[in-house]
Amino acid sequence: MPKANILVVDDEALIRWSLSERLKSDGYDVLEADTGRAAMEKLPDGVDLVLLDYRLPDTDGVTVLRKIKEFDQDILVILLTAYASVETAVEAMKLGAYHFANKPFNLDDVAATVERALETTRLRREVRQFRTNAARPYSLQRIVGGSPAVTALRHLVARVAVSPSSTVLLTGESGTGKDLVAKVIHYSSDRASRPFMNITCSALPEHLLESELFGHERGAFTDARAQKKGLLETADGGTVFLDEIGEMTAGLQAKLLRFLEEKSFKRVGGAADIRVDVRVIAATNRNLDEEVAKHQFRSDLFYRLNVLPVSMPPLRAHPEDVPLLVEYFIDAFNSEFRKRVFGATPAAYALLQSYGWPGNVRELRNVIERAMLLSDSDRLDARDFPALATAVSAGDEFELPAGGVDLEQLERSLLIQALRRSTGNQTRAGTLLGLNRDQIRYRIEKFGLTTAP
Ligand SMILES: Nc1ncnc2c1ncn2[C@@H]1O[C@H](COP(=O)(O)OP(=O)(O)OP(=O)(O)O)[C@@H](O)[C@H]1O
Ligand SMILES: [Mg+2]
Repeated sequence: MPKANILVVDDEALIRWSLSERLKSDGYDVLEADTGRAAMEKLPDGVDLVLLDYRLPDTDGVTVLRKIKEFDQDILVILLTAYASVETAVEAMKLGAYHFANKPFNLDDVAATVERALETTRLRREVRQFRTNAARPYSLQRIVGGSPAVTALRHLVARVAVSPSSTVLLTGESGTGKDLVAKVIHYSSDRASRPFMNITCSALPEHLLESELFGHERGAFTDARAQKKGLLETADGGTVFLDEIGEMTAGLQAKLLRFLEEKSFKRVGGAADIRVDVRVIAATNRNLDEEVAKHQFRSDLFYRLNVLPVSMPPLRAHPEDVPLLVEYFIDAFNSEFRKRVFGATPAAYALLQSYGWPGNVRELRNVIERAMLLSDSDRLDARDFPALATAVSAGDEFELPAGGVDLEQLERSLLIQALRRSTGNQTRAGTLLGLNRDQIRYRIEKFGLTTAP
């Protein structure tokens, strides 16, 4: 990641100096300005974040804030002031200030806020990148995530897409993105301009599913008043997605196998062989190996389908993707609900990342949708996810090992981890542990952690 450019605006040289020194030592490039006018002149140099004093010799911080946002909406502004009135704070936040800090400030707190603010823009930029690339409706970039698991999945999907005839078997828990991946495969392949047809094998009784898939001749059964083409015919040249293949009855399994081997089939009640060029993608959230072992699923069909296996990781196996997915869905629901939510608070991220997501990405999507519908604030906070908070605390993630634990040592270790994760900010460390700042201070002393770990 390139270094971020930070502009420090304050008329007091000492304050500018102490902030710049600290930020430079954190690895940022720092510019300085002592008036509102000088600040505006620096903006064309490419500024990512502004630390802005409220009381300036030529104007006030809120006026400068408004001008900065007019210049470039994406520049982050943290306002510093010794004269905080609630009205000013509210106005500043409305104008899009990222944060409002009181003077005198603590350098560590300011540095932590800067880091957090830049992290949010990084995420937002990454999401924007994903969205631009996703201008085509189901491009590879629709599969959001930067973890090794999801990166590997995207590579695999790309390879699968360019071998456009082989059968694909998608396996994975509910909500992991099997439908999504099936569409991405189709729309990234040479078949993209041909139909993508989709049928859920569990949704219909056997004879209806059969005639949906293979079509029927007039008079084939009581209701068959006219001849009808099946999905396989309609999708000629394209892709048929057979969802919940594990639910298919034995009789249909046999017919599907015959189609896959011969590339031809007969309509129900028909005699003629019909040839089509269709790629089949099948999906299941069952363990088909087990179904085969129990003779619930034909082994020959399983091997025929399993030419290109793609297994979808459950979300709990790649929690590092949660923030990016959260930003992605916030962005999507911002457009859908015409809202302007700017990401989530650190406490919300901590909560969302510690949850186990039994319903995977679908559950995450629903949780964000609900929070955005119900919340009025412009950043989602932990309290916008009440159901998760109780689920996390009532869960038994912390199972007592058979040999027991040293509780004091566990407490010390968790405290150190929380302080590290919040770069020494005691209030934020407290949020991670469900403690207030005094309780954190007490424990820091108790464990002799006088210097920041
Ligand atoms: N990696 C991802 N990036 C972006 N969106 C995702 C991702 N994975 C899943 N989704 C979204 O999550 C939701 C659920 O995904 P999908 O319907 O594809 O799951 P599924 O595996 O087919 O579940 P089921 O087995 O219940 O049918 C969809 O809105 C999908 O777009
Ligand atoms: Mg599905």
